Amino acid sequence: MSQQPLTQLPSQQEKVLVLDFGAQYVQLIVRRIRELNVYAEIVPCSINAEQVRALAPQALVLSGGPSSVYEEDAPEFDPEIFRLGIPVLGICYGCQLMAYSLGGTVKPGDAREFGRTELRVIRPDTLMAGVPERATCWMSHGDRVEMVPEGFEVLAATDHSPVAAMADLDRGLCAVQFHPEVQHTPQGLEILRNFLYDVAGCHGTWRTESFIEQAVAEIRARVGSERVLSTLSGGVDSSVVAMLVDRAVGDQLTCMFIDHGLLRKSEAQEVIDSFGPRLGERFVFVDAADYFLERLAGVADPEQKRRVIGEAFIRTFEREAAKLGEFRFITHGTLYPDVIESGGSETATIKTHHNVGGLPADMAFENVEPLRWLFKDEVRRVGHELGLPDSIVMRQPFPGPGLAVRIVGEVTRERLETVREADAVLREEIAAAGIEGLAQWFAVLSTMRSVGVMGDGRTYLHPIILRVVTTDDFMTADWADLPHELLGRISNRIVNEVRGINRVVYDITSKPPGTIEWE
Ligand code: XMP
Repeated sequence: MSQQPLTQLPSQQEKVLVLDFGAQYVQLIVRRIRELNVYAEIVPCSINAEQVRALAPQALVLSGGPSSVYEEDAPEFDPEIFRLGIPVLGICYGCQLMAYSLGGTVKPGDAREFGRTELRVIRPDTLMAGVPERATCWMSHGDRVEMVPEGFEVLAATDHSPVAAMADLDRGLCAVQFHPEVQHTPQGLEILRNFLYDVAGCHGTWRTESFIEQAVAEIRARVGSERVLSTLSGGVDSSVVAMLVDRAVGDQLTCMFIDHGLLRKSEAQEVIDSFGPRLGERFVFVDAADYFLERLAGVADPEQKRRVIGEAFIRTFEREAAKLGEFRFITHGTLYPDVIESGGSETATIKTHHNVGGLPADMAFENVEPLRWLFKDEVRRVGHELGLPDSIVMRQPFPGPGLAVRIVGEVTRERLETVREADAVLREEIAAAGIEGLAQWFAVLSTMRSVGVMGDGRTYLHPIILRVVTTDDFMTADWADLPHELLGRISNRIVNEVRGINRVVYDITSKPPGTIEWE
């Protein structure tokens, strides 16, 4: 989990700190609070009362977690935090911790309570205001609070939890055994709102515009009169970073767009059209397609492709940056989930993602990362606010190694052209059909060949695989159930319009066991 130095917290006037006890849902808690226009951020649960006081949050949230409060290896926590006079909401483990630390009792329940559970509201005011007397909540716990600490009142119960919600409003201390942050608790957002606004007195100052103002001021203060170099990829993150830095230090910014020749149809031109006029001479376009293709010649292994492309990207950047003179700063499009995940546990490397097409953080520059506190949807809102076009702001994620990982086997000019044309047809038809809610949609070219008949002749050509998925987090995904008529139209057009293709197949594999990309 993220163990960022606390001094890096942005100087928001109003913020909520979410103490992380190892909950699965900790990111979701932060997201929900921000949806309610209050800035929230994760901090380690070992933060002490002094550190909390120094950060002056409006409120604290104690997350859930897998431990038991009465066990010796329970996570480190400073109970002085409850005496700071700062309102606290405990969730699940956080609820048990509050009860236990303040003199209540917590015991293993007679049965685990998991999933949708009926909640009986006993005190329908303040924290539970707006929640019906019988409501649904999402539970996931073994231990339970049996007796509340002195000064607390029971606000709600379930069959297995005599204390499903409790509060001592005089001290601003509230807790719920269930998870208000998940959608399966229909009034969850309402409960969080009640806590933030009615118990903690938040004003809801977290807005895209206030973020922009603050980020611009911070970049200005940090960069001073030095020069900054930004790389643009055409994606929303790097574009928003460039626009923020442009707003902050104008002429001191130079943006470099490296076209590695692996982009989708018209994409390079869109980037040039969006940024060229805005930035004038400060926009540097590097056409490195030949260099990348040369380096990729004969490379068929997916991981080898990523390595070659990553390396070629850095070499190109170094070569081109040297021509532009001295820079002290470079920008990175790091987002908050990357910051959280970079402190995460070791997991098996399925694919080496996310650093491909980016720059290593240990280059001889200082880094500017203005989006490191934002989630993707917040970045998109900032992008809109900064006047970037929808084609960039709403762009579906596109991998750094581009079409190279959508061509199974060797990447050649001809094969790139084939997959690019097929992909363009798919994108055009999906846009025309107005289908919403898709996360990613693209074409893959395989090495396989099959026999077909076209006109009066036999063909022996390659198939195009269509991959269309829905997902919120890209960790798991479902194949999209597109209308058959639309699939038929796309197939027809691809076979007719794209040379070298005689068959179209639709990938109906979820992730897992598949991945989203084919390589
Ligand atoms: P997979 O294929 O692992 O993809 O299910 C999950 C998400 O990551 C993207 N992806 C990449 N992004 N460099 C990137 O910047 C890569 O090498 C890479 N490989 C996959 C993929 O498009 C999807 O959004």
